[in-house]
Amino acid sequence: MAKPDILQFSPYPPRDQEPLDAAYTTHRLDTAEDRKAFLAEVGPRIRAIAARGISVVGRTLIDSCPALELIAVYGVGYDGVDLEVCRSNGVQVTNTPDVLTGDVADLGVAMMLALSRQIIPAEGWLRSGNWSEKGPFRLSRRVHGRRAGILGLGRIGHTVARRLAAFDMEVAYSDLAAHPDANDWSYIADPVALAAEVDFLFVTLSATAQTRHLVDRAVLQALGPESMLINISRASNIDEAALLDALETGALGSAALDVFEGEPHLNPRFLALDNVLLQPHYASATVETRAAMGQLMRDNLEAHFAGRPLLTPVPLGEDT
Ligand code: 8YV
Repeated sequence: MAKPDILQFSPYPPRDQEPLDAAYTTHRLDTAEDRKAFLAEVGPRIRAIAARGISVVGRTLIDSCPALELIAVYGVGYDGVDLEVCRSNGVQVTNTPDVLTGDVADLGVAMMLALSRQIIPAEGWLRSGNWSEKGPFRLSRRVHGRRAGILGLGRIGHTVARRLAAFDMEVAYSDLAAHPDANDWSYIADPVALAAEVDFLFVTLSATAQTRHLVDRAVLQALGPESMLINISRASNIDEAALLDALETGALGSAALDVFEGEPHLNPRFLALDNVLLQPHYASATVETRAAMGQLMRDNLEAHFAGRPLLTPVPLGEDT
């Protein structure tokens, strides 16, 4: 039987690419010289798209694949996928929730610790010889016992909160409603009020039109010059221009960021700052988690083409 044709945005690690190439006829959008001509040629044959968390799968692309049945995202976030068009074109969507939660939470907490305790510049001080020549490095700020806020208490936010509680931090969170399983943590609905109460604010929202720039100038101002913002979600949840202004003027103390507008090309203003810790969208990037994400994406593709129920379908009735 002919192998189904699938479209990819970029290559996967060999342990995922090899089984994909064995089961499907794979087509790479990123290596196409003329994307329009390429889609005109292969689009009609494409039955599934293997996307990544930040892939933009919009109307033009979906419409150029009239036989498209499934978009399988290698990532928990699917904000780049136009769900409305999927709904109207009868295209199903899957993502890879749960398997990456622990790693994303770990990196958020690691960034908080590294930036607050100044681990990276302190090592630079040692390596440059400053320790022996000039004396001790400047003092850092404590983490344990301080107050942390979680903006969006989903799977990842919940896991971050549990880790922070183990650091004896006081945890508060903001979400659409209080969670019955979060009784140890305070619920503060308004993001500005939450920011005013905490020393560290974690952004763990899934990105939607409603959450765009939820972290705005008012939230950053409320956080203030002694506090830290940590973003392990999507850049669109934060007003990045306001964030850069706040970091440059010292209106916000510091920020640890794994995601950026226009990534991987980030605003060069970030690189001039010494009150930031910047990571290359790295939170789920461990060997173990990427293997599990690849497996789940392939399991969804396989289930679909075998006529079995999808393992982790994205509900198309809502955008959250
Ligand atoms: C990945 C992500 O970095 O899960 C997501 O939504 O953005 C990340 O886990 C990405 O999907 C891999 O390209």
